[in-house]
Amino acid sequence: MTQRGTAILNLNNGSAPIELPVLSGTMGPDVIDIRKLHAQSGLFTYDPGFLSTASNSSTITFIDGDKGILLYRGYPIEQLALHCDFVDVCYLLLHGELPTPDQKKTFDAAIKNHSMLNEQLVRFYSGFRRDAHPMAVMVGVVGALSAFYHDSLNISDPVHREQSAFRLIAKLPTITAMAYKYNIGQPYVYPQNSLSYAENFLHMMFSVPTEKYEANPVIVRALDRILILHADHEQNASTSTVRLAGSSGANPFACVSAGISCLWGPAHGGANEACLRMLEEIGDVSRIDEFIQRAKNKEDNYRLMGFGHRVYKNMDPRAKLMRETCHEVLNELGLHNDRLFKLALQLEKIALEDDYFISRKLYPNVDFYSGIVQRALGIPTSMFTAIFAMARTIGWVAQWSEMVSDPDHKIGRPRQLYTGTTMRDVPGSYIK
Ligand code: CMC
Repeated sequence: MTQRGTAILNLNNGSAPIELPVLSGTMGPDVIDIRKLHAQSGLFTYDPGFLSTASNSSTITFIDGDKGILLYRGYPIEQLALHCDFVDVCYLLLHGELPTPDQKKTFDAAIKNHSMLNEQLVRFYSGFRRDAHPMAVMVGVVGALSAFYHDSLNISDPVHREQSAFRLIAKLPTITAMAYKYNIGQPYVYPQNSLSYAENFLHMMFSVPTEKYEANPVIVRALDRILILHADHEQNASTSTVRLAGSSGANPFACVSAGISCLWGPAHGGANEACLRMLEEIGDVSRIDEFIQRAKNKEDNYRLMGFGHRVYKNMDPRAKLMRETCHEVLNELGLHNDRLFKLALQLEKIALEDDYFISRKLYPNVDFYSGIVQRALGIPTSMFTAIFAMARTIGWVAQWSEMVSDPDHKIGRPRQLYTGTTMRDVPGSYIK
């Protein structure tokens, strides 16, 4: 980053104006560096929800929400979705460049080397209720990885960091698929290292010992695209959670478990599940207006799930790609007349013509379509967010690694504007 100039803060209280550096990155808005503001003025800034605050610098992902641009390490998401697979994207996010064929072979082999779970860890599943939400299981099992891999927990050692990254990328599909198999009471299917990342996941989800399973290539490609589109999204809530947890020196398994917890919420990764449930609840085109009116009613907390984004004030580029995949998958599976897909298209059309949504720049986001695609792939609704977590793990790991390897990183410790009771004495009746 470079200093472009200074901003002057005049407090109008007779004190001298304060000069604050203005820093530029390579793209995107400049930032006012307020790190010394408290020392200079005794003041903090106030920005709940980080509406105007950059929490860190990063070289990984860039979003221009007004133009609908998403870049991983400089490459547009549209090109990556078209020309690369998820393993290429993992390498890119982690190392900064796309792999050469040799680098990819070595990377792929290193990941596959870690795809199994310790058998003790497999026993954890039976401690959960069969009907536990897969995200609850994921939070527990991923957090428990820290209890198994003591040999890669020294976060100051780059080799340990890389080893933990490989373990997380490799084990998440196994953990996710096992959560599903446990839920439906089928035997666990172990990873098959001859298969691609996406195909192996489908194999662990859908194969059973009694029948041969061969995944449809269109479905494999669709899942791979879901993984690419969800791989990273700069400083979103769950990534910021992972960074904050990691800023204290916590190990990466614990940090990713914290990220999974954050992702679960319906305002974030839980939106894909909530969106499909919403479409099911609407049920028929004739009821769309009723739900749009509810979303617009300020007295009602109801929101159209899969619409709106903190950063995108234009069409989410991931939503465009997911919409395309949706068509491909539904055509391939002969589901082009799918009731919920038709309903989604109609809802999108009506919302995009409505002044409430236009004036607030509320466009469909990636979760609007990803639920429909996943449902067509045979993935149950309760698994949608778990698959998002599996895909986002690479982003969490890359962002965590970037932070930890920065020698200047500090523990994250926000300040507050206290609005509680001022100092007072404990009542006399309590004093013995
Ligand atoms: N339906 C109806 N109204 C909405 C919606 C929606 N989905 N989203 C925002 N608004 C309204 C909101 O009521 C507010 O109106 P007003 O200015 O009159 O008070 C205005 O739009 C701005 O909303 P906000 O809550 O200040 O915006 P935010 O940036 O804090 O929230 C969001 C972003 C994604 C949490 C929100 O749009 C939302 O709740 N959407 C539905 C959930 C969803 O689809 N989440 C997935 C996000 S994409 C996947 C991911 O990255 O995790």
